[in-house]
Amino acid sequence: MPVQNVTVIGLQWGDEGKGKVVDSLARNCRYVVRFCGGANAGHSVNIAGERFAMHLMPCGIFHAGVINVIANGVVVDPAVLLGEIEELTRRGVPVGPANLRISLAAHVVMPYHRQADSLEEQSRGAGKIGTTTRGIGPCYSDKAGRFLAIRVGDLLDDSLLAEKVKRIIEVKNRTFSALYGSAAMDAGQVLAETREFGRKLAPMVCNTGALLRRAIADGERIMFEGGQGTMLDIDHGTYPFVTSSLVSACGVPGGAGVPPKAVGQVVGLVKAYTTRVGAGPFPTEQDNAIGSCIRERGREYGTTTGRPRRCGWLDAFAVRYAVELSGVDELALSLLDVLSGFDELKICTGYRRGGKAVELLDPARMDGVECVYETLPGWSGELDNCRSFGDLPAEARRYVDRIEHLLSRPVGIISVGPQRDQIIIHNTKVVGLS
Ligand code: GDP
Ligand code: IMO
Ligand code: MG
Repeated sequence: MPVQNVTVIGLQWGDEGKGKVVDSLARNCRYVVRFCGGANAGHSVNIAGERFAMHLMPCGIFHAGVINVIANGVVVDPAVLLGEIEELTRRGVPVGPANLRISLAAHVVMPYHRQADSLEEQSRGAGKIGTTTRGIGPCYSDKAGRFLAIRVGDLLDDSLLAEKVKRIIEVKNRTFSALYGSAAMDAGQVLAETREFGRKLAPMVCNTGALLRRAIADGERIMFEGGQGTMLDIDHGTYPFVTSSLVSACGVPGGAGVPPKAVGQVVGLVKAYTTRVGAGPFPTEQDNAIGSCIRERGREYGTTTGRPRRCGWLDAFAVRYAVELSGVDELALSLLDVLSGFDELKICTGYRRGGKAVELLDPARMDGVECVYETLPGWSGELDNCRSFGDLPAEARRYVDRIEHLLSRPVGIISVGPQRDQIIIHNTKVVGLS
């Protein structure tokens, strides 16, 4: 029987605790692979009281013997990645060609992408997306446009890179000056900086698709680490308030260069409530004392931008859509501990529009829906020391049971705190855990 790979994806609007869960599961895998997004992601891992915030680095990096892969579907900001490598190394986590590989075909986030992201956002006024301004949308736009794109592989070819940078900066300077009156960028300076990045990354650059396909043939286990969350998916999310890549499990084969069958067991991460950063519809949002209480208890401030996250009740109707889209096998329920102390908890089980029940969720038409809630009793004790399902208060167990029922999927893992060991293994079939 071939080994089962694992795909971990977010089922809401990001920040579901992917970093923590990927780190917890990584010890059973040979590869951990980022396949979408870029430095817009902020994945936190807490080990022995130390907190690490990863933007591009896959969260398998803390395990000896795990090879971390930044695959072709990612947009790589070399300045951010090199900063992460340096910081990890300084903090005692060595990073090099033995444990990190970067795809030749991944696209490079250039300084003008970050600049365009900020300028475009400013120019949108009230129609802002609320991006992370990490240059993600502009870089993926250039990737799709082809003519102005730079791939990681280009950094290894001096004369090709020089030709590209010169030609692209010329176009960008004309565009930025006409649209925003910006000062011209110096092509020579951008080239020198980019060359230096290329020189430092070169030992880790390779054909990661070929590497992963060989790993599959050799029977090695791969974990795919999602970025963002399904409702931010470019095609299947709350468009246009989304990010610029396929972040559901649908993005794994294309973003990593592996066959669709290699996706393996799909673990969908659900936060016990809902958060969203940036603009866009959020039907269960609690822009009130309840939302503030969740924000403070859950320390819901962006890992990448520090922005306060919008908070609200769990939206099981939206999560069910995400479960079906990605063919989720089991759920990982995170931040359950944050809900301690509420007298009662609400879960949204459906929407109504104009007095009529919404049959099928259309993520691009979520504005103005009315939520149908069911109310469950809350619990008062803290959960951070619970290590088995039986340790949880009866009301918390009931909350978990209800989620399993509403989503028709088992809750495999329950996370009750940010630390590695604050985890309850429940109804899981993930190899190595069950
Ligand atoms: P990611 O983007 O999905 O990896 O999630 P983030 O790291 O951006 O945000 C999740 C936050 O919650 C981080 O600060 C984590 O350290 C923290 N966290 C993860 N799991 C839990 C949990 O079960 N309970 C609590 N209280 N915090 C958690
Ligand atoms: P992780 O992996 C939460 C959101 C932004 C914005 C929208 C578009 O940590 O869960 P972008 O910069 O991608 O063009 O912004 O997407 N966003 C995230 N929100 N967590 C993330 O990543 C996000 N990555 C992007 O806030 O609303
Ligand atoms: Mg995050």
